Amino acid sequence: MNETLPMDEKYRVGLARYRQEYKESLENPESFWKEKAKIIDWFSPFDKVLDDSKKPFYRWFINGKTNMSYNCLDRYANNEKRNKVAYIWVPEKGEEKVVTYYGLYRRVNAFAKALLNLGIKKGDGVTIYLPMILEAPIAMLACARIGAVFNVVFSGFGEEALAQRIDDSNSKTVITADGGFRKGKIIELKKIVDAAIDLSKGVDNVIVVKNANNKINMESGRDYYYDQILEDGYVKPEELDSSDPLFILYTSGTTGKPKGIVHGNGGYPVWVANTLKWGFNPKDEDRWWCAADIGWITGHSYIVFAPLLLGMTSIMYEGAIDYPKPDRMWDIIERYGVNILYTSPTAIRLLMKYGEKYPLSHDLSSLKTLGTVGEPINPAAWHWYYDVIGKSRCPIIDTYWQTETGGFTIAPSAHLGLPDLKPGSATFPMPGIDPVIYGDDGKEVKDGEKGYIVLRKPWPGLMLTVNRDEKRYMDVYFSKFPEQYLMGDYAIKDKDGYYWLLGRSDEVLKVSGHRIGTIEVEDELVAMKEVAEAAVFGKPDTVKGDTIIAFVTLKDGYEKSVEVINSIKKRVRADLGPIMVPEEIHIVDAVPKTRSGKIMRRVIKAVYLNQLPGDISTLENEASVEEIKKAVEIIKKEEGD
Ligand code: WTA
Repeated sequence: MNETLPMDEKYRVGLARYRQEYKESLENPESFWKEKAKIIDWFSPFDKVLDDSKKPFYRWFINGKTNMSYNCLDRYANNEKRNKVAYIWVPEKGEEKVVTYYGLYRRVNAFAKALLNLGIKKGDGVTIYLPMILEAPIAMLACARIGAVFNVVFSGFGEEALAQRIDDSNSKTVITADGGFRKGKIIELKKIVDAAIDLSKGVDNVIVVKNANNKINMESGRDYYYDQILEDGYVKPEELDSSDPLFILYTSGTTGKPKGIVHGNGGYPVWVANTLKWGFNPKDEDRWWCAADIGWITGHSYIVFAPLLLGMTSIMYEGAIDYPKPDRMWDIIERYGVNILYTSPTAIRLLMKYGEKYPLSHDLSSLKTLGTVGEPINPAAWHWYYDVIGKSRCPIIDTYWQTETGGFTIAPSAHLGLPDLKPGSATFPMPGIDPVIYGDDGKEVKDGEKGYIVLRKPWPGLMLTVNRDEKRYMDVYFSKFPEQYLMGDYAIKDKDGYYWLLGRSDEVLKVSGHRIGTIEVEDELVAMKEVAEAAVFGKPDTVKGDTIIAFVTLKDGYEKSVEVINSIKKRVRADLGPIMVPEEIHIVDAVPKTRSGKIMRRVIKAVYLNQLPGDISTLENEASVEEIKKAVEIIKKEEGD
């Protein structure tokens, strides 16, 4: 934890600039953000930077009118940048497709026109359930152009998860594909959409991109092929208010229902464009590859919006990073001359396991800067990334943030000035971010002590609200420490002011970088006819971060068997999606509970991981030592079976 890697002198000069800008951002936020908001164009200027009269519902750039699609496309499509490449799209199999800023502008306009023709208008909800194909950013930008509020659902989610999101986002339109490719197999997306619609309140339009050419069912009057409804032409971008919603993205929390995080049209673009610039310092000629999926916030902010707002060239890759061979990532970097690679610790650990021979067989000299996101990066993976991939000459920008924050909150800044890096630390806050580490008592802990990371001041990227649930917005994020934003992670600030993120402080898991609520999986399990009770927790995994483990009891009339376990797993896969399937399901006689009926999840986990500490009474607040001893026996018995 104390290792420090000095950065090149050329960056050091800039550290003073970072300090200056950071100070400025906290001391004079009005003038600071007024200047930084120029990173996008405004149809009419805002008359106030921040309105905090209804805190914690902060509103930015009051009365400013703008449009995301205009800022991403029109600004470049109509000048000397029109022929600049926006995306090099790399399929899992076959030849790449290149689309310029002008090409993207044309396609977004044609699709926006199609949406208008279907009667979709400003404020309508649209669910996008697409694989990693160019039509995904096109659909998002077309919705943004007309002011429709889109909700992208990761194409690895199952029918129930999709139905829930369609309903909660009030979507009467779904944009999907016949199928998507995953490691050579076809995922039948349209079929999942059909099943989800049956479970939902119903939709009026389904737009289907022909992609995998698998056989699908088309319902006349409801389903349309994407390429048959496109209409060339120009659609005037809606002049949207800074605080009008841009999109809703669902993410897991500590209760069963996923939260619909709402981001807006003004603060969000200002935040994502500035943070990408500060963090990675991209140059006009750079090729940027964010190897995430558009279904998650990383894909929204840093595959679609920030790179286009900055007029950058991105690689967009359809498939798995180790398919068809473990050198796929390195091959893409060499083939397309990637300069900045932004990926996750879980990806690095997976590729590290395959060995050095794969990266060493490729010329990776185009790389200048590396980045990670999604979970804490362990020093061994950091070093492999730094030494083997970056050849000890590319700084690693470890970006700490979340769906709710819109963009990076803590990350080194290659633009403003890089600090010396400490492997495993995300280093310092971005301008505008004011972190503090509190103990349970709400007092700031000493340097080097673990506590909750909290942001004291609002910043433009903060979500507008939780969709249709303002109470939840306040309860989850602003109640433990009133009026301050609780990130839900543990962290330490060391004596040099570096931040070290230590994982979630709540019941949320990170499985291969994907955020999964244990309660979400428990709710799914107990809804099954065989299952009476369930306790779900994470088991540390050297590649995936966490894997999902479930302990369940069965209802009367059901016997413990491999068939029951397989059938439960199969249903989780269909309902929620493959990433939510527990790796292990243990059937027990009873799930240990406290007298007040709370499942002793932490005791079960400790026994399972063989980590029972000496003083078990501290493990569960409400449990007596006797109860815990009983719990240990129940679990041990299962283990011994
Ligand atoms: C975790 C992903 C440590 C953290 C952008 C956070 C990280 C959650 C890092 C948000 C990092 C993300 N170091 N932990 N660099 N980046 N996290 O909403 O627990 O999918 O709260 O957003 O991921 O996950 P989400």
